[in-house]
Amino acid sequence: MRMYDLIYTKKTGGALTPEQIAFLVKGVTDGTIPDEQSSALLMAICWRGMSTEETLALTLAMRDSGARMDLSSVPGIKVDKHSTGGVGDKTTLILGPIVAACGVRCAMFSGRGLGHTGGTIDKFSAIPGLRVELTADQFRESLRLTHFANSAQTGDICPADRKLYALRDVTATVESIPLITASIMSKKLAGGADALVLDVKCGSGAFMKTLEEGRALARSMVDVGKAHGMRIKALITRMEEPLGWAIGNTLEVMESVEILRGLHREGELAQMSFRLAAEMLVLGKAAENLDEAMKRVNNSIDDGSALRTLRDFVALNGGDVKAIDDFGVMPQAAAIREIRAEKGGYLHAMDGRAMGILAMELGAGRKSREDQLDLGAGIRVHKQVGDRIQQGDVLLSVHAKPGLAISEAAFRATMDIRSEPAVVKPWLLDVID
Ligand code: URA
Repeated sequence: MRMYDLIYTKKTGGALTPEQIAFLVKGVTDGTIPDEQSSALLMAICWRGMSTEETLALTLAMRDSGARMDLSSVPGIKVDKHSTGGVGDKTTLILGPIVAACGVRCAMFSGRGLGHTGGTIDKFSAIPGLRVELTADQFRESLRLTHFANSAQTGDICPADRKLYALRDVTATVESIPLITASIMSKKLAGGADALVLDVKCGSGAFMKTLEEGRALARSMVDVGKAHGMRIKALITRMEEPLGWAIGNTLEVMESVEILRGLHREGELAQMSFRLAAEMLVLGKAAENLDEAMKRVNNSIDDGSALRTLRDFVALNGGDVKAIDDFGVMPQAAAIREIRAEKGGYLHAMDGRAMGILAMELGAGRKSREDQLDLGAGIRVHKQVGDRIQQGDVLLSVHAKPGLAISEAAFRATMDIRSEPAVVKPWLLDVID
């Protein structure tokens, strides 16, 4: 078989056979296919797309390019959640303990942040001592004992995805529905969970800019999951503004713990996390329907069991449990600068993507994979869309190293304040199952 023929077939609109796709994935993994040929094929896939059969074959071949997590020794249905990535998205830190406290085992592999979006692994790293890279045995132990396990993916899972993703990152071929589907679903299938809830982000702060694109990606991932026997459902959610008040690692742990304590309950972050958790309980067969699941979610906050589960998870995995009660135990920024409103009005919109980039500049995120994070750095958002703003109100607090040159205008420009009242848009755009 020749890679040239695969590129030519895709370039001219043909379909690749499962054998050709297996040849591609094997050659990418063992390094026998040169990067320029893989990149050319990726670009052809971006333009020509892939059929459902091709996407399925690519997902399977990528899943089988490395090791697979075996969770069969842990009893019960194991449920996972995946978000396609947004600014301030800390739902995993909230729903993991909730789902676990409600009796469903929540098995999650997460990533580190890159660019304007953060990663769950970096957020958990703000808890001193917490192991974020668990061995397979430690992962199963955490799942067995606390019903919750979260770890960075081990290096031997889906090596083909690591190689392909690195090429996509530098060849402008990330935004392709079949490639995103195969990348995400191969890792999820290799992760060993039986059920998966997807949070497909849609809007200016996400990969998928329009609802149509969001629906197409959700449909593609749900179809692939079902074809592999997974119980799966996707929520399509708005990603324009940052989610919740915190952007940055320590700050995001603080906000998550506050929600588990019962605060900010009516806010978008809590509502989204609770709904995702409830969907996971239904897929995990711990509730007959969403209403019953939502009651269980709310009870786990009211009776403190979700917060207790977070403590148990942190303690079991070497973390300092004091961080849950005393946020000062986590890395803090030495300087906090307030950004105030220059005029009154109503907050119409916030540019989540721009805020994510500014937080990255402060040290809360990575420009390149090698960057060291400043875990205490970030932004506290004091207002929500729809709020009335008075001149002089604090809009944002910027947490950073002292002496960092900050253009206040760049932060102020992320908030669109107008004289007429603003309409608050719903966060849930659609459900695909
Ligand atoms: N996240 C992934 O893991 N893969 C993609 O292709 C896009 C987002």
